[in-house]
Amino acid sequence: MDQFKGQARLPKFASPKRYDIRLKPDLTTCTFAGSVAIDLDIVENTNFIVLNAADLSINSACVSYASSSKVLQPVKVELVEADEILVLEFAETLPIGIGVLDIVFDGVLNDKMKGFYKSTYEINGEKKNMAVTQFEPADARRCFPCWDEPACKATFKITLEVPAELVALSNMPVIEEKVNGDLKTVSYQETPIMSTYLVAIVVGLFDYVEDHTSDGVKVRVYCQVGKTKQGNFALHVAVKTLELFKGYFAVPYALPKLDMIAIPDFAAGAMENYGLVTYRETALLYDDQHSAAANKQRVATVVAHELAHQWFGNLVTMEWWTHLWLNEGFATWVSYLATDSLFPDWKIWTQFLDECMEGLRLDGLAESHPIEVEINHASEIDEIFDAISYRKGASVIRMLQSYLGAESFQRSLASYIKKHAYSNAKTEDLWAALEEGSGEPVNKLMNSWTRQQGYPVVSVKFKDQKLEFEQSQFLSSGAPGDGQWIVPITLCCCSYNAHKSFLLQTKSETQDVNELLGSCQVESGSSWIKVNVEQTGFYRVKYDEELRARLGYAIEKKYLTETDRFGILDDSFAICMARQQSLTSLLTLMGAYREELEYIVLSNLINISSKVGRIAADATPDLKDDINQFFINLLQFSAEKLGWDPKQGESHLDAMLRGEVLTALARLRHDLTLDEASRRFHAFLEDRNTPLLPPDIRTAAYVAVMQRVTTSNRSDYDSLLQVYRETDLSQEKTRILGSMASCPDPNIILESLNFLLTSEVRSQDAVFGLAVSKEGRETAWAWLKDKWDHITKTWGSGFLLTRFVSMIVSPFASFEKAKEVEEFFASRTKPAIARTLKQSIERVHINANWVQSIQKETKLGEAVKELAFRKY
Ligand code: BES
Ligand code: ZN
Repeated sequence: MDQFKGQARLPKFASPKRYDIRLKPDLTTCTFAGSVAIDLDIVENTNFIVLNAADLSINSACVSYASSSKVLQPVKVELVEADEILVLEFAETLPIGIGVLDIVFDGVLNDKMKGFYKSTYEINGEKKNMAVTQFEPADARRCFPCWDEPACKATFKITLEVPAELVALSNMPVIEEKVNGDLKTVSYQETPIMSTYLVAIVVGLFDYVEDHTSDGVKVRVYCQVGKTKQGNFALHVAVKTLELFKGYFAVPYALPKLDMIAIPDFAAGAMENYGLVTYRETALLYDDQHSAAANKQRVATVVAHELAHQWFGNLVTMEWWTHLWLNEGFATWVSYLATDSLFPDWKIWTQFLDECMEGLRLDGLAESHPIEVEINHASEIDEIFDAISYRKGASVIRMLQSYLGAESFQRSLASYIKKHAYSNAKTEDLWAALEEGSGEPVNKLMNSWTRQQGYPVVSVKFKDQKLEFEQSQFLSSGAPGDGQWIVPITLCCCSYNAHKSFLLQTKSETQDVNELLGSCQVESGSSWIKVNVEQTGFYRVKYDEELRARLGYAIEKKYLTETDRFGILDDSFAICMARQQSLTSLLTLMGAYREELEYIVLSNLINISSKVGRIAADATPDLKDDINQFFINLLQFSAEKLGWDPKQGESHLDAMLRGEVLTALARLRHDLTLDEASRRFHAFLEDRNTPLLPPDIRTAAYVAVMQRVTTSNRSDYDSLLQVYRETDLSQEKTRILGSMASCPDPNIILESLNFLLTSEVRSQDAVFGLAVSKEGRETAWAWLKDKWDHITKTWGSGFLLTRFVSMIVSPFASFEKAKEVEEFFASRTKPAIARTLKQSIERVHINANWVQSIQKETKLGEAVKELAFRKY
């Protein structure tokens, strides 16, 4: 049976058609008993049945044939833990045709947030357990033996035996409930044909709120008892979104009901189980009094994302994990479409730039991977739920949609969904549908984006009324890369009405823009040319010096849209980090944003400031204070406009922006901000409902008070911990965890890091406390090394572990540190963190090179002084 070991995929001797599953979880002993009868189509002559199973003990297994009343017992049953397979060997060849495989097994309700696991909650001061499943990507096998691959679709008939007083949910509606003493047997309607990773079960005590769509789909949001009010917002979003997607995909939602439920211990943000979507509390619950605008937006976009999967993912499923991006990239893109339609004033598409930017950041590493990525072992799948699959995936879809046009795009999608419904698809199937619908060479165009990693930087030069375009691979390290793409280029000159687009198919191309320039002459001072209009393309643009200067001017004059202002800044930052533009020139450009008021642009300006601030502290410690002062100056205009108190009728974006600007000023240790925050924080300690500290500015206040905390002056820290302990709102807890580590005092940082490992912090939340201040970097690294054994024991089997590595390692900026990290992990790496570790070390090298190049800039000091003391 060795031939079955070490394989990425199961052999194709038999394929499952229907699962009849019975499970009996015991919430006291945290174990479960189960049995499964699988209708199999045996298609090849074989003595073996090979399926997935892990962490289960198998009590019995046999195959029977209804046609011949034959029952075959295996001569050997082996569970190969390394490959998570169960191999059944039979003495005789199994007859071809339909058989039933019966297996009886036991398992443990684990505390690892995967498979069939326990989560805990409190009710009237009493601690309780609930049982929950999380199967994606490959953990259904920890709950019942199965063909645990997305292409092995079957129907599922589920029956649960649970304590009579509990709520027991699964993908489908209940058809029968029989109470028998303390227990009840709940059976559910059989599901349509679907993949194993979408099967779900939740057992616990819950309340719900309910509504229905215009065509009668029953929608419920389940919350902890007493918290149903917090479910109303998500319920509204879900009902509207289901109706919207029914129209967009031109296929109705396939199931009779949709339940959404908040789970107190949850590794991801949410999971799109067919008909029973599970969420972290922060991604589903919205509290009028204590949730921030950012929390509200998070709930809306996560709900929209998971509901998109009900079509894109659940109805049409990727054929293998190589095509995971089809699920995640698409759901991410379409969640913006839905959110925009529900909340147009949020201008959510402008925030799509954050997705694109994160995609570009990760894909600028040599250690990135193509969107379509080879998967050789189940343990590698977790790591590809990353910014490439989600954000680059969503960005290339957006790029394609804007190239093909919204209508043609939607029509082709609807036909793709119809064609592959209740089945599986590969990336090329989507391209084929879009190619057929549009008549454009989609496959050729898109292969260059999904089959090779990285993306181009397009250099633009203006010469003799002509524009020269040249593409080369962009790498954050500044190294040359040899990729080449088919790049949809768009540009406009002096006005958004004067635009042009073409496909750059070769290394370089010259475009005559004479006509486009028309009356606007680039020689005259006020003209400008912007490439990648509205940032719909997944590439960066590098302008020649002249064009760059003119764009700076256009930014100050507010000629450009916020998305273009964002793009120019972000490209410039990336190009600077790659050492192809000086820090001096980046800072000068940043100065052009001093009157910026748009959320998305300022939010990125803040983000970039914080990264530049950190690198400058390493490169030129004596300029640190002046750079700090410059960043404070940059935020004055917006800080004054926004103030501390919400304005009546203000926009959602202003509410979010206020929080970010004040938090940034707090991190910059701006004295007046720290004083005011302290005043408001103390009012809040007296009265949790004080109007002085609304949810949108709480993070800012918490970060601010932490800036002055030291071991000998720690009362604000203790008060913050008290707020943490008192609140039962997960969003409040994560705000606090995220603020604690911003303290400059290494002793306090160490204390707050240790706090993350206590039972007071759910293991799902610890990662929020890892964003340490620059003063805490060494402490955090020493702590990580010290606690590594404990950390891998607790988080070792999921993607949360990767965050410990990336968040603590990536901020370093020296070659010695990179070496130290490599040495430490040499004997400790494992498949689940291998990619992240390489990426983090690469970032350290990039930072270290950047530090060296900044140190060589001769005019930096002078420029910084000028910027820091310029009066605006
Ligand atoms: N399918 C994922 C959940 C998931 C993530 C399962 C990682 C297994 C591993 C779900 O649809 C998802 O993408 N959730 C996101 C939230 C979303 C709004 C980006 C998440 O969990 O962060
Ligand atoms: Zn998703």
